[in-house]
Amino acid sequence: MSAPLYRSFFGFRKEPFGSDLTPEEVLKTPALEAVGGRFDYVRNLGAVGLVTGEVGSGKSTALRWAASRLHPSEYLTVWVTASGGSILELYRQIAAVFDVETRSFSRAALRKIIHHGIKELLHKKIQPVLIIDEASLMRLEVFSELHTLCQFEADSKPHLPMILAGQNNLLDSLQYRSSLPLASRIVARTHLEGIDQEEMTRYLDHHLKIVGVKSQLFSPEAITAIQQGSGGLLRRANNLARGALVAAANEKCQLVAAEHVRLASTELI
Ligand SMILES: Nc1ncnc2c1ncn2[C@@H]1O[C@H](COP(=O)(O)OP(=O)(O)OP(=O)(O)O)[C@@H](O)[C@H]1O
Ligand SMILES: [Mg+2]
Repeated sequence: MSAPLYRSFFGFRKEPFGSDLTPEEVLKTPALEAVGGRFDYVRNLGAVGLVTGEVGSGKSTALRWAASRLHPSEYLTVWVTASGGSILELYRQIAAVFDVETRSFSRAALRKIIHHGIKELLHKKIQPVLIIDEASLMRLEVFSELHTLCQFEADSKPHLPMILAGQNNLLDSLQYRSSLPLASRIVARTHLEGIDQEEMTRYLDHHLKIVGVKSQLFSPEAITAIQQGSGGLLRRANNLARGALVAAANEKCQLVAAEHVRLASTELI
């Protein structure tokens, strides 16, 4: 399949504003560093951490980047994407990461399998770190039981650091009395917000560099329009920026104007 017109018009090496960034391609924003610092703190303590934020604010990217800094000979990142399913489903997802195929239907049996997997790793001097993305989707039943994964029966030492990421209503689920055992283990949290105008300029520049463009293709007015139209949220900014590039290329304009961003916004919900 040939590259779309706008890519050849601007000479992009690949699709701009992609979601498939390598850890090296991720822009080191203050928010990202904040997630990284708290991730390390939680990991060291074997505690629980939270990353909340609006849709497309960069939660998953920040956690992928934070986890990518862990050396695989010392750490195993267990990454699960939560669903609205039961605790059994979540346990099965985690057990699968430990290479355990199980048909077990019992919570206790699954928990035992996971504990066994953790113990084996610790014995090999590998520290597992559990990341649950989209945790705001989890049922209350899951919040009330999750802490039992961190601790073994005869031992009060926490063995499984855990980071929960999700939208702001994750906090609501943690307010329930039944979630208290989990909530009481939280030692750090980061809330990701939309970025400001200055950071947006850096952000757009950065994504253009990834596709091989050194000059700024967005006029100051276009940057303002992207910042305002996205509320500084990164996925929406990506979509506005890419759409504006398409609109500018259609008009054979080398510099993206605010009007191109406006045109792009009419395509988005
Ligand atoms: N630090 C960053 N550097 C460069 N691009 C980024 C960065 N953070 C996020 N992005 C871009 O923003 C997009 C959205 O980020 P991400 O998927 O991490 O958000 P999210 O908060 O997890 O969204 P959701 O609420 O839908 O899960 C990514 O696909 C990526 O292109
Ligand atoms: Mg995400």
